[in-house]
Amino acid sequence: MSIITLQGINKIYGEGDIAVHALKDVDLAFEEGVFYSIIGKSGSGKSTLLHILGALDQPTSGQMLLEGESVYDATADEQALLRRRRIGFVFQSFNLLPEHTVLENILLPSHLDGVEPEQAHLDEIVEVLEIGDKLRAFPDELSGGQAQRVAIARALITKPAILLADEPTGNLDEATGREVLRLLKEFQTRLGQTTVLVTHDMEIASMADTIIEIQDGYIKSVTDNR
Ligand SMILES: Nc1ncnc2c1ncn2[C@@H]1O[C@H](COP(=O)(O)OP(=O)(O)O)[C@@H](O)[C@H]1O
Ligand SMILES: [Mg+2]
Repeated sequence: MSIITLQGINKIYGEGDIAVHALKDVDLAFEEGVFYSIIGKSGSGKSTLLHILGALDQPTSGQMLLEGESVYDATADEQALLRRRRIGFVFQSFNLLPEHTVLENILLPSHLDGVEPEQAHLDEIVEVLEIGDKLRAFPDELSGGQAQRVAIARALITKPAILLADEPTGNLDEATGREVLRLLKEFQTRLGQTTVLVTHDMEIASMADTIIEIQDGYIKSVTDNR
């Protein structure tokens, strides 16, 4: 069974003369434990697609099934819970809370749900990301690469079934970006979550198991890279 199925997804921002048709009849199926990349030019609809996959935004029309259940049949509260428990996000701009330490940032998603994360899981994440000596630091004391590794830790702390990353290397130099990609791949192997990485860089996209190409809101191609 696919972990996520999109059926006939359209997204239109605005109305009338200013309407932007950002996604056009998108049908996609995402399989469990596979690493996907979404590649396309700026403005092609990548972030819109990722926001819909993460239930951060709703399409104008179409259906999304997550683990077989229709997401839009769920209430807003149920969707928020699903987002927190089943989906992890990594953004280009890291989005760490500046007034909280690294450890507090990492634990935030668990604490929002009132659950203590598994210590062994936390230890493994911290070790793989090599951020053990930064746990008491604040975000403004981190380099870009360190900040993104903390953001990855925060995204994975709840053991999400799906990890969504929107241009996670966009604010990093090439070597640091490559290291972040290596870590995303390593976690996909270790933890088995489905990963969807958005990029406009073909070299980065080609690291994925499956490459989804989007152009002007259409899915142009889906290429199995394995
Ligand atoms: N909130 C919004 N309101 C209006 N138009 C938007 C909004 N977000 C994105 N768009 C438009 O939708 C199209 C797709 O945007 P986006 O998904 O951000 O593309 P990408 O991430 O590939 O650069 C673009 O034309 C963009 O200007
Ligand atoms: Mg974008």
